[in-house]
Amino acid sequence: MRYTRLGSTGLEVSALSLGCMSFGESARGNHRWSLDEESSRTIIRQALEAGVNFFDTANVYSDGSSEEITGRALRDYAARDDVIIATKVHGRMRPGPNGGGLSRRAIMSEIDHSLRRLGVDYVDLYQIHRFDPHTPLEETLEALHDVVKAGKARYIGASSMHSWQFAKALYTSELHGWTRFASMQNHYNLLYREEEREMLPLCADQGIGVIPWSPLARGRLTRPWDAVTARTETDEFGANLYHEDDRIIVERVAEIAAKRGIPAAQVALAWLGQNPVVTAPIVGVTKPEHLEDAVAALDVELDAEEVGLLEAPYAPHPVAGFR
Ligand SMILES: NC(=O)c1ccc[n+]([C@@H]2O[C@H](COP(=O)([O-])OP(=O)(O)OC[C@H]3O[C@@H](n4cnc5c(N)ncnc54)[C@H](OP(=O)(O)O)[C@@H]3O)[C@@H](O)[C@H]2O)c1
Repeated sequence: MRYTRLGSTGLEVSALSLGCMSFGESARGNHRWSLDEESSRTIIRQALEAGVNFFDTANVYSDGSSEEITGRALRDYAARDDVIIATKVHGRMRPGPNGGGLSRRAIMSEIDHSLRRLGVDYVDLYQIHRFDPHTPLEETLEALHDVVKAGKARYIGASSMHSWQFAKALYTSELHGWTRFASMQNHYNLLYREEEREMLPLCADQGIGVIPWSPLARGRLTRPWDAVTARTETDEFGANLYHEDDRIIVERVAEIAAKRGIPAAQVALAWLGQNPVVTAPIVGVTKPEHLEDAVAALDVELDAEEVGLLEAPYAPHPVAGFR
């Protein structure tokens, strides 16, 4: 495994993060495709054995059961000092007032709920899952700073939002001497490259670690366009992210993979990994071989001609994945 620093922090993370949205009780929340505890544990253990130290979950994934399963497995298979646990806050956890969002009230409650479900006394990276337009940014940033100062999180990060919002958050933290976001978890892959306009240059300039979500376009980049899996049949959020025009890029990935004699997933991940602003893709794994591909992709180097073929058909997309 290769390790790298998360942006300009001193934190060493594997160049591959395991997405724990794949793990959870399928009857809880809206990820009916998620793996049960036993299958999840097999993959988490496999990831640890491969040297992956970076695990990403969220309070909302399968209504907290992703945190529970991930926490139990990491406690059983790893020492706390050896793993980097990232989770998120913002999504709605219960109906009624203060059940979601980024108010001081919500953040202070949700960090404690996440720590309890994970079975740890701190997380390494506490991320805001989305921007909350209904809460003053200062309120959110000061609460996050206080979470860090209370020892409940080591670093803070952000996820999909507009670049102006992220830039405002960075300078507002600096103005007040509060803990600054160390990372951006955004939607970035060969089928969705809108982040190349503003967000990625901003992150490069500001020393922000970039940890893209859905780096394989939720599996689209790994198989023929019309293929159906247990996940594609019930992945409501993923159903509207990609469009027929993207098919040609999927075909190019498959062509290059066939020429090299490697799985398409390795080509798509290698492309992402070649961008120096990317710290670690957060890969979704539902079968052991998915993880093997993700690890193998760290050693695949695409040449300029291959990169040109993969990038040429891209056309601008409407902003997607912010909600
Ligand atoms: N911050 C956010 O808003 C946000 C949003 C989404 C996700 N995330 C994070 O990002 C992580 C990854 O998201 P994702 O699961 O959508 O990512 P992804 O890596 O783009 O997609 C994962 C899916 O791709 C398929 N796959 C993966 N490797 C494969 C391989 N080698 N060969 C064939 N198929 C392969 C599997 O599909 P099948 O299961 O259909 O076989 C798997 O479920 C999540 O777990 C979560 O931690 C964050």
